[in-house]
Amino acid sequence: MTTTIGYIVGSISSTSINRRLAKAFERLAPADVVLTEIPIGDLPHYSPDLDADFPQAAKEFKTAIEQADGVLIVTPEYSRSIPGVLKNALDWAVRPYGEGVFNGKPTAVTGTSPGGTGAALAQQHLKTILSHLNAPTLGQPEGFIQSTPDLFTEDGEVTDPQTAAFLRGYLDAFVALVERYRVPAAG
Ligand code: FNR
Repeated sequence: MTTTIGYIVGSISSTSINRRLAKAFERLAPADVVLTEIPIGDLPHYSPDLDADFPQAAKEFKTAIEQADGVLIVTPEYSRSIPGVLKNALDWAVRPYGEGVFNGKPTAVTGTSPGGTGAALAQQHLKTILSHLNAPTLGQPEGFIQSTPDLFTEDGEVTDPQTAAFLRGYLDAFVALVERYRVPAAG
């Protein structure tokens, strides 16, 4: 059975190293695991004023999360937390009240930074948010990836075999979590 993973990149930078990391997961995924980006760059700023008339981009964003078996979030660390664009996207995902799409959705959180902590503090903040949203989140392994300039090529090739093996193991662990939460088909 195919496992569908939607991934969110928490950076809208045209030169994002986290996008490269996300592409690395796409390349490393086994044939029965399909990774597809859930874009956040076109989402307007969230405001409760828009709850009654949700913008199309926000509707599509929520539907993509609903349809994925699991959601992988690959994010940079900004000021020891997550970037505002990612928080904005999560705010869309949980509104209108009672119609959040992360409830029960298996998630995993990873990211990369040139800094020695590998975006760890952003990931910890994000796990706190996801816990509040009642989204089961991969605990181990932790995905703190320190980038060097040539670690990932633009199309996601991983130049260091040890890192590639780690990322493949990380993805396998997430797929196992997703499968544990899969609702059996009726009948
Ligand atoms: C950063 N950066 C950063 N890095 C880090 O490890 N911890 C941090 O707290 C921050 N804070 C921070 C704030 C802001 C506003 C910027 C723009 C950057 C550096 C960051 O890790 C680096 O720019 C990455 O390249 C960002 O990821 P993307 O956008 O390339 O995927």
